[in-house]
Amino acid sequence: MCGIVGYIGDKNAATILIEGLRSLEYRGYDSAGIAIVDRRKRLFLLKKAGKLKALSDCLINRHVSGHLGIGHTRWATHGEPNEANAHPHYGNTRDFLIVHNGIIENHHELKQQLRKDGHRFSSQTDTEVAAHLVEKFYKGDLLKAVCRAIGCLKGSFALGVICMHEPDVLVAARKDSPLIIGLGKGENFIASDVPAILSRTRDIIYLDNNEIARISKDEVKVFDAKCREIQKKKVRINWNTDSAEKAGFAHFMIKEIEEQPQVIGRILTHRIKSKQVVFENLNLSRAQLKNITDIQIVACGTAYHAGLCGKYILEKMLRIPINVDTSSEFRYREQIITKGRTLIIPVSQSGETADTLASLRAAKEKGAKILSLCNVVGSSIARESDGVIYTLAGPEISVASTKAYTAQLMTFYLLGLYLAGIKKTIADKTVLNYLSKMKKIPALMRDILKNQKRVKKVAHEYVHRYHYRLAEQFKFLEDEIVQFQDPVKALEFAEKWARLSHSAYGRRFGDFPFLYLGRNVNYPSALEGALKLKEITYISAEGYAAGEMKHGPIALIDEFPLVVCIATKSAVYEKMLSNIREIKARKGTVLSIATRGDKEIQKKEYSNYVLEIPEIDEFFSPLLVALPLQMLAYHIAVGLNCDVDQPRNLAKSVTVE
Ligand code: G6P
Repeated sequence: MCGIVGYIGDKNAATILIEGLRSLEYRGYDSAGIAIVDRRKRLFLLKKAGKLKALSDCLINRHVSGHLGIGHTRWATHGEPNEANAHPHYGNTRDFLIVHNGIIENHHELKQQLRKDGHRFSSQTDTEVAAHLVEKFYKGDLLKAVCRAIGCLKGSFALGVICMHEPDVLVAARKDSPLIIGLGKGENFIASDVPAILSRTRDIIYLDNNEIARISKDEVKVFDAKCREIQKKKVRINWNTDSAEKAGFAHFMIKEIEEQPQVIGRILTHRIKSKQVVFENLNLSRAQLKNITDIQIVACGTAYHAGLCGKYILEKMLRIPINVDTSSEFRYREQIITKGRTLIIPVSQSGETADTLASLRAAKEKGAKILSLCNVVGSSIARESDGVIYTLAGPEISVASTKAYTAQLMTFYLLGLYLAGIKKTIADKTVLNYLSKMKKIPALMRDILKNQKRVKKVAHEYVHRYHYRLAEQFKFLEDEIVQFQDPVKALEFAEKWARLSHSAYGRRFGDFPFLYLGRNVNYPSALEGALKLKEITYISAEGYAAGEMKHGPIALIDEFPLVVCIATKSAVYEKMLSNIREIKARKGTVLSIATRGDKEIQKKEYSNYVLEIPEIDEFFSPLLVALPLQMLAYHIAVGLNCDVDQPRNLAKSVTVE
């Protein structure tokens, strides 16, 4: 979602803003802009639709100097992604400029009131009202004007504000959208996320809800909503920029896929001490944890799939009811929470997902204890929970989540063991057996990654099949055209077909949907496999519990869809084989994810393609099954020339509802 950067200091603001915005590209956006002010109070404002390159290309051979500035990447919510709607926005005059992440819910009413006062609007955005409000309330003190303006706003916001009358001040404010302040020497920064400023400083302040900051080059002062100064803690970031760089890989996604053995190894080393699972920031006593009678997991997207898998894991280990819900549903339904008994587990890579944060707050209000699983240290979800378990995946840049997912899975296994130890639901011998199996997982992951050639081959064969089919369609078009005697009709027909074919191409694989089937602990793996593919290739893909196949998806089966069947050795293996037989009986094309050495499944009557994982206890198999599914999606996306790391319309961190 939208990314914000701001700078005040002695260096060239334009360079710093573009560099910062580049590091925020991963959040997803469709237009970008910057506003720079110099000491002679001259303003430079530039906005462009499309990628950041369109903006930075305009700066080539143009000397833009200025010591103060704000920059923005916009993910459109109100109004299409064009130049007028791109940020920064200003009021009636260009004296007050503003960048915003979030949604101003009462923008309609505010606009009507402001119009009556003579304000004219030049965009369709909700943000613009904030600039007009600041302008309206300005009486010589920018901080106070912003303070009054945000008092009128309903919804969520992270704001960066500058004003031509005070060229030595940058004001920042937040409510329900992330914003940090970077502390430098003789310079300071604001940003939506740490990577944007990490090459400049490691010292940051996390702004909390309803806080507002007045930032000059030498000083940062933070105030509450009533403009009373408050003291904030400085936090030192101890990870480095390497993890936010591609390091020779073609894409962040493949780099992050390859990092998984290392991430899982790190989690195990960090969390297992003397054959005991340890967590540092639980802030929940053993007695409190012992009293838990039910658990509710809430999450979105990939984290939701990890949560679903977490249900299988925790139920097996704890034998208590575990519910899982997407945050956007949980927050609005009747939440059944027994005070002191229900534990809520929000799962989130970014720790900023708006719906997950809202679910956390709703449950907290009803007296539930919150233990979150987060990747980003110091994120809003981490800070608002009673306890947090960091998933230790390191920065994840690719929009499609990979290493954060397996890190969440591993954390669920460890949490299960930890809670089972307190509740005495697993025998000590079983705990030791599980721990020793878990320790082998990084090596097994490495083994899968070594065999990437096979995945590439399968992906390429499939891409070839698609292109072949497309070529056939065009051939049909040519044949039809020559049948027309009337050149005008022929042209009309050709145009119509070109449009149709174009949209088929735009939809990619319209004729080649994917179906992912899995059972039991690998049912969530099927959902995640389908999600990975659709996110980065735009191919229509569905994940299903294999047992549900007969209740709908089987109607799709002929030779065109590719059915990915997770049929590794397990208690439900025979059931999966019988699903596969039913697919093959209908001329279906099957790609099996199978256990190495399984000769049966290699047979033509079962599989057209096979991707193998090494032998593993089925309970832990989701950790391995994830890898071929991620790689398959990746290599198909590369074959189709898709924008792997920044797929269209998606955002890494969904900070608005
Ligand atoms: C977006 C991202 C997904 C992510 C989901 C939840 O949709 O594109 O990759 O799984 O948000 O994000 P979270 O940060 O809460 O895990």
